[in-house]
Amino acid sequence: MADNRAIDALYEENRKFAPPPALVKSAKTNSDEIYTKGGDFQAFWEERARPLPWKTPWSRVLDWSGAPFAKWFTGATLNVTESCLDRHAAQTPTKVAYYFEGEEGDSRTITYSDLLEEVNRFANGLAELGVQKGDRVAIYMGMIPEFPVALLACARLGAIHSIVFGGFSPEALADRINDAKAKVVITCDQSRRKGQTVDLKALADTALERCDSVEHVVVVARTGAEVNRVPKRDVDYEQLVSRQKPIRAAAECSSEDPLLILYTSGTTGKPKGIVHTSGGYLVGATTTHQEVFDLKPEDVYWCTADIGWITGHSYVVYGPLANGATSVIYEGVADYPDKDRFWAIIEKYRVTQFYTAPTSIRTFMKWGKAYPEEHDLSSLRILGTVGEPINPEAWMWYRDVIGQGRCPIVDTWWQTETGHMMISPLPAVTETKPGSAPKPLPGISADIVDDDGNSVPFGGGGCLALDQPWLGMARTISNDPNRFVETYWARFSSPGEGRWRYFAGDGAKRDANGYFWLLRRVDDVMNVSGHRISTLEVESALVDHPTVAEAAVIGRANPITGQATAAFVTLKAGVKGNETLIAEVREQAAGKIARPASIVFTEDPPKTRSGKIMRRLLRDISEQRKLGDVTTLTNADVVQEITKRAQLQAKLEE
Ligand code: WTA
Repeated sequence: MADNRAIDALYEENRKFAPPPALVKSAKTNSDEIYTKGGDFQAFWEERARPLPWKTPWSRVLDWSGAPFAKWFTGATLNVTESCLDRHAAQTPTKVAYYFEGEEGDSRTITYSDLLEEVNRFANGLAELGVQKGDRVAIYMGMIPEFPVALLACARLGAIHSIVFGGFSPEALADRINDAKAKVVITCDQSRRKGQTVDLKALADTALERCDSVEHVVVVARTGAEVNRVPKRDVDYEQLVSRQKPIRAAAECSSEDPLLILYTSGTTGKPKGIVHTSGGYLVGATTTHQEVFDLKPEDVYWCTADIGWITGHSYVVYGPLANGATSVIYEGVADYPDKDRFWAIIEKYRVTQFYTAPTSIRTFMKWGKAYPEEHDLSSLRILGTVGEPINPEAWMWYRDVIGQGRCPIVDTWWQTETGHMMISPLPAVTETKPGSAPKPLPGISADIVDDDGNSVPFGGGGCLALDQPWLGMARTISNDPNRFVETYWARFSSPGEGRWRYFAGDGAKRDANGYFWLLRRVDDVMNVSGHRISTLEVESALVDHPTVAEAAVIGRANPITGQATAAFVTLKAGVKGNETLIAEVREQAAGKIARPASIVFTEDPPKTRSGKIMRRLLRDISEQRKLGDVTTLTNADVVQEITKRAQLQAKLEE
């Protein structure tokens, strides 16, 4: 009988990959001494903070006296845009900051000096509209160059940006604008997606019907479509910036002044406005970007995340720019005009580091290797993943097909709340194992604990807890500090003893060598006949089957076993599902972990716009509950089909 308080660690993965010798030779960080240095984490982070252009130095590295509300680099002042722009515009003005690739094939090249001038112009424009230090500005845009310009223009003024992903509904936008009391909204006429246009301005107008705080809306013309203009309130971006000067002194901000608010969905209703501040966040994003990607001056780096997610904030904008990197920004989807678009972009710009999400990798697997094989991917050096656990088979495919066996994979675990990467390999130091985000980065500390907060020995699983403050940690939840303490700190901290542990919400296990394996949110752990089984591990066993591209597993209520394992399986292109295949796939999973009670083939599992599978919805379908709102899904049309097949399957089982 399993221990009810920990998670059973069932899936075993024994393949190992050492860093390539040539990389070990050339990388700046190539020895595990860095972990020893990270042991004295305050001294370690202080050393990394020094090279940035601060206006006033700090008196203290960390003030943890108000735990769990941290203060880093107290007394120091800076403006993050000086780290991101001015110093590079001075030293390498013609270096490319962004290669922009439009979905329709149009492109723009933006140097550091161009970017600084544009940011200054827009900062002046926002100032003309009355935006001041500490004001909140909401941004609702497509992936175009004006998107990073908008963030940076806010930061230049010391205004706080609150980005709302351009795929969100007017409802979601309005809630976020109101919670942040945004004074200005920056949007575009339309965004492009999969050969179509989305009327962002019209969606914003709908949202604004119930937002009283907004004084102005700045509209960037992306497609030039006619849009509704509210006199006095709405301002054309081009008209606004063209009358401004390209210089603007950067506002002096304290290290702990808020830089941004980013809303993340909670398990219950109201989204949480995660607040990040300036100094610590910037140092964290910059150094992790540098070290995890072994960044070199001549690299061309591409993170496919939308800037509307934290990955885009930290690893499309702040980290890469502060490092003076050259990045690619791509406006559209991976299968427009065809399924080889990403590989064509890598070939075109000679991309060296590619950072994407497991959901995309599984989609590429489903489409097949013919698409990447049409292109020259020899420029790639390092591959990264983020956003959810990656199944070993997807990891291997990424390594073999995209990396051609040559590129180390950095599986980076972190969250909106952590601000930057926390658990990840260092490409020239760490031996990697498919599916494992191996260990906390230097200066970061994590543990796996059982429900009582006791550390679980190697070989076991439990809850992932972070037991030491870090630079980019969320400082609070906007307008709700109590919720911040309750959600993240209450469960495993003992304030009386001065012991603070952040609970990430994720389950994890550690193998005999101390490698971490993330097992997804603890709410996604099933309890089948008293065994606590991670849905992820069953999925990985399913994806091991050569015909399976993607699997989503949930625990469906069952009167006998508590929960039964229900699997939704997507087959690779060209494979036809039938009863024989169901039996075969089921036996394969049984041999590795546990036999799913039911398997339903689906074209595609239902996914959120950030690519995460909506497991709650699959549970509702399996337990034949009435379904809630599905319009936020990227593929709402699959729901009906899945429901039909699940009902059929349930009948067969009776
Ligand atoms: C999951 C994204 C396993 C995890 C940066 C976390 C991961 C949540 C990984 C945060 C990874 C992210 N391996 N799981 N490498 N990266 N996650 O806030 O459940 O959008 O808690 O931040 O994604 O998602 P968020």
